[in-house]
Amino acid sequence: MQMPEQAAVPAPPSRKLAILVSGRGSNMEAIARAIQSQRWPVTVVAVIAHREAIPAVACARALGLPVRIVPLNKALDRAQQDAELDRCLDEVAPDWIVLAGYMRILSAGFVARHEGRMVNIHPSLLPAFAGLDTHRRALAAGVRVHGATVHLVTADLDAGPIIAQAVVPVHPDDDEATLAQRVLQAEHRLYPLALRALIEGQIALDGCRARWRDPAPDAGGADPLLLLPEPA
Ligand code: GRF
Repeated sequence: MQMPEQAAVPAPPSRKLAILVSGRGSNMEAIARAIQSQRWPVTVVAVIAHREAIPAVACARALGLPVRIVPLNKALDRAQQDAELDRCLDEVAPDWIVLAGYMRILSAGFVARHEGRMVNIHPSLLPAFAGLDTHRRALAAGVRVHGATVHLVTADLDAGPIIAQAVVPVHPDDDEATLAQRVLQAEHRLYPLALRALIEGQIALDGCRARWRDPAPDAGGADPLLLLPEPA
């Protein structure tokens, strides 16, 4: 008996991600686990680090992700170092470059080459507390709310278009460690949500402002403190 022909369902386009790490790797892990458990049409083509002996590399290997080590050659200037990084990226040809606790400042040329497809998470509510030591500075400033920001990377440090933010309260008895932990937990929820929306082409940029292209899904779920873009 002839079976009725199945309508061909086009597979969603697969996207390739390279994740750049320097340290602990907990955001990389959150993203990798979201890709796997939510079956994003995405392949992590490389987790790139400058050295083997960091927790992020051990974690990537344990998750079965392909790791590439691009050693930093101190004899080279920043642009030359980034050219080495580019050679590695050329080999894996990612659609998106995801900075996940990547602690080097990238050269202007590198950023320009990848602008619009390079994304970062920063542990503050930008534009407040760009740069380092965000939790200590937030406590010193006496802010009542703090958080994290997912943004596109541009030549100005921590200043690219904001895709999404997560807000956490600052408690009177917080120290740097307790505040950092609360922000990090929010990061692990925020980064996968924002990254997925970007990769799936759901976000449009209007100057520096990110908007949903279609009616906004309830992407933040029940959590009013996960702030994704406003509807168009
Ligand atoms: C996070 O706080 C992130 O916001 C910042 O660096 C930290 C990286 O942590 N850019 P991890 O390596 O993802 O655990």
